[in-house]
Amino acid sequence: MQNLSSLPGPIGVFDSGYGGLTILSKIREALPQYDYIYLGDNARTPYGSRSFEIVYEFTRQAVCKLFEMGCPLVILACNTASAKALRSIQQHDLPRLDPARRVLGVIRPTVESIGAVTRSRHVGVLATAGTIKSESYPLEIHKLFPDITIYGQACPLWVPLVENGEAQGPGADYFVQKYIGELLQKDDRIDTVILGCTHYPLLLPKIRRYMPAGINVVPQGELVADSLKNYLSRHPEMDARCTRGGTCTYCTTEAEEKFSESASTFLNEAVTVRRVLLG
Ligand code: DGL
Repeated sequence: MQNLSSLPGPIGVFDSGYGGLTILSKIREALPQYDYIYLGDNARTPYGSRSFEIVYEFTRQAVCKLFEMGCPLVILACNTASAKALRSIQQHDLPRLDPARRVLGVIRPTVESIGAVTRSRHVGVLATAGTIKSESYPLEIHKLFPDITIYGQACPLWVPLVENGEAQGPGADYFVQKYIGELLQKDDRIDTVILGCTHYPLLLPKIRRYMPAGINVVPQGELVADSLKNYLSRHPEMDARCTRGGTCTYCTTEAEEKFSESASTFLNEAVTVRRVLLG
């Protein structure tokens, strides 16, 4: 893809499925003035169990699509994509695609806040198998807070529960309790648990029910929204390229009706959706 225009456009928000909607809604609360395009790769979700190469390829295709649709700035509202594809896209693809555009992830903004939250300096991360295996959280946390001990726990069943509309159902309780128990068994001094997957806020009522009192649960939405606000104030040239109309266009790689039905339960509002093809 060459000669992309530098015209202003909407901010792109990408996730493997519906999870990024939890980030989008916090971003829109904090920054309602901008236009947004949300893209969910629902046809190929979940990414959490996929290889590095596949997650990178799928994410690169999504970023190219959002660039084609005119986004000067894309947020990877997916930890798995941030862990496995962000660095390669920033280092290898952006200079070739369009060095004036930007792609940002969700791990760094989450990690930055952690030093001020934990007192015991023992932190847990609940995330997809891919994010845990990538070691992105320990690597990023240790760059900023070398004194923090981190334990990760993969929760492979949580995304399928959310994607299949079972987050509030009784079947979810077993797996919520199971993964929390497995994490806390690794280290009983953990006082802060990062929800390192954008789908997990949908399980928050059950996560709070099974998390022992006194442990801070940290979802990412507000942290990412604050960080984007801060980024735009520090980069007026990018801020000027983000259009301001307060709109949001929803795109999915799956059937439109399927997305709009599920997305409205995530967002508590009806949405109009457009199907796009990637690759
Ligand atoms: N929501 C994504 C994340 O934050 C991943 C879900 C998946 O596709 O496995 O990691």
